[in-house]
Amino acid sequence: MRGSRARSEQAANVATGFGPGKVILLGEHGVVYGHPAIAGPLSVGVRTRGRPANRCKLEVSEDVVGARRQQLLRAFDRAAAACGRPEVSVKLESDLPMSMGLGSSGAVAVACARVLLSAAGRSTSPKAVMEVAFEMEREFHGTPSGLDHTCSGMGELILYSRKPGSETPTVRRLKSPRPLKVLVVLVGERSPTKLTVAGLRARQARWPERYSRLFDEIGRLAREGAKAIEKGDLEALGDAMTVNHGLLSALQLSSPNLDEMVHRLRQMGALGAKLTGAGGDGGAVIGLFLEPEPAVAQLTKMGVRCFGSQLAGPKTL
Ligand code: MEV
Repeated sequence: MRGSRARSEQAANVATGFGPGKVILLGEHGVVYGHPAIAGPLSVGVRTRGRPANRCKLEVSEDVVGARRQQLLRAFDRAAAACGRPEVSVKLESDLPMSMGLGSSGAVAVACARVLLSAAGRSTSPKAVMEVAFEMEREFHGTPSGLDHTCSGMGELILYSRKPGSETPTVRRLKSPRPLKVLVVLVGERSPTKLTVAGLRARQARWPERYSRLFDEIGRLAREGAKAIEKGDLEALGDAMTVNHGLLSALQLSSPNLDEMVHRLRQMGALGAKLTGAGGDGGAVIGLFLEPEPAVAQLTKMGVRCFGSQLAGPKTL
């Protein structure tokens, strides 16, 4: 009896997938122009569940409407085509705040790629998953660096770069001898990444020398940050993060509410703080803390939406 129920449940759920969200510790935007960046996975993310169906389709919640719905369906269609359109109906569930700069589209792409490849009976190796996920990310972001879905697909802290136009990124796993923990604050709604990246591209095309100086410096901070992580020098990493925020602000990618939260986290004892992801008029701010939980409790009491996450290093209770 138990065996037949298990078999029918297995048949009803052909496949599942998970894609974690991410935070960028250093190097967002510069990474679009070929400079390195560091990103780490969050414990929250997007889950997919696939059930047998007479055609390959995505079940989109009624809350997702208009252009966003159409874009999600187009992105799914690209991934479905790349997997040979297995006969599966895919449902999404997420505990990751969406459109906050925490890699929700990359996580959706990775979770869909895993479920589609698995339903098609193909390899679900990280390489195969990331290839299919990149198809979806191109639909979401136009010219993505590939950092978000690579971090989600690998589920590890990485130093990432990819020359514009090249298909092959350079990716290095970063090992931290110390627990590396951040506090993530959801500051507020923001414009889509595609628009923020396009606005920056227009300024960069107009004043290429000035902007390339800033991108060079952001790339240098990411390389220094990678060394600091591997040495366990969290103070140096924190300082690089705060300097990186200043450069993002110089690139007109910050806003008063993001800046205010960076200052607040530093006053609360963060070793460093910055906006994370595309930024612009809102999104998320991260603070590097030896132990974020007291600050999480204090901010939560004040009604601020935030959570702590360990990105790398030995696990602590
Ligand atoms: C978005 O999470 C990160 C950006 O650097 C865009 C990208 O890497 O494609 C702003």
